Amino acid sequence: MSEFNMANYLKFWGGKVEEFFETYITCDDEHLKGLISAMRYSLFAGGKRLRPALVYSSYGIFEGYFDKVTPFASAVEMLHTYSLIHDDLPAMDDDDMRRGKPTNHKMYGEATAILAGDGLLTKSFEVMCNKDINPDVEASLMLEAAFKLAVATGENGMVGGQFADMESEDGVFNSSVVDFIHTNKTSKLIAYCCELGAILGYGSDEDKKRMREYGMRIGLAFQIVDDILDITSTTQELGKDVGSDEARGKATYPAIHGVEQSHAKAELLIEEALEIISVYGKTAEPCREIAKFIIERKN
Ligand code: IPE
Ligand code: IPE
Ligand code: MG
Ligand code: MG
Ligand code: MG
Repeated sequence: MSEFNMANYLKFWGGKVEEFFETYITCDDEHLKGLISAMRYSLFAGGKRLRPALVYSSYGIFEGYFDKVTPFASAVEMLHTYSLIHDDLPAMDDDDMRRGKPTNHKMYGEATAILAGDGLLTKSFEVMCNKDINPDVEASLMLEAAFKLAVATGENGMVGGQFADMESEDGVFNSSVVDFIHTNKTSKLIAYCCELGAILGYGSDEDKKRMREYGMRIGLAFQIVDDILDITSTTQELGKDVGSDEARGKATYPAIHGVEQSHAKAELLIEEALEIISVYGKTAEPCREIAKFIIERKN
């Protein structure tokens, strides 16, 4: 029987990135107080810290100097948090609750929320490429990490997926549109987190590809489950608004395939992901546990 405790695992690595935020997202200028406070508000509002955990767990397959990974895992969480702040804006999903608290724009107003998102996005690249913060990381690794993050989250990745998501609202969408949206808005960043572990751990090109492919599958399953939970869960359990996908006519998996079939698809993706990393031994156990958690999660 496995003794792996996912809640503790996420809490442990989440604690590492929170320490990092505590140190590096600070205010030393009176003029910036409101902005930094808005950035910190969403960073410290909670969240599962799944993406940092994926960076650590993927890295753990290849190497064990975990402190080296913290700035990168933190960068990914900052970028993800920016995407949530912007996703919740009135011009986008117009949601009021996130991570169990009022959304950033509800607290700070739209202009500050937009800038807090911008600040987190740019900060993520700053900390990745900062030689003082990463004295033990070769410049070539920083470059690869930053370049691939930009690719995964720009117009050919997360931003493109968010655009297609907005375009298809209330529109006519089909299964291939939904696949495009989900792959881009969610899977590519998650796949990047998995590949990042291999990059920082000096994995081979084959390792990087394998981790990316594992990540694409768990990433798609993750968004399918997110769509399902929007229908089946409660705001209290999720910490964010529910029912908003249907209300806005969003292009989701259940809207096309129904809840049951969507769940079956997510299960299939997790099986495939597990198969992809079956070449690795015990060090891949956390990655296996995370894959299973994605389908079982309740929030
Ligand atoms: C929410 O991500 C946005 C999606 C891609 C579905 P998470 O469910 O990981 O949100 P937090 O970080 O735990 O708040
Ligand atoms: C958001 O997808 C994906 C990104 C933020 C990139 P959703 O709009 O479904 O996420 P939630 O449900 O608001 O967390
Ligand atoms: Mg959205
Ligand atoms: Mg949303
Ligand atoms: Mg959602």
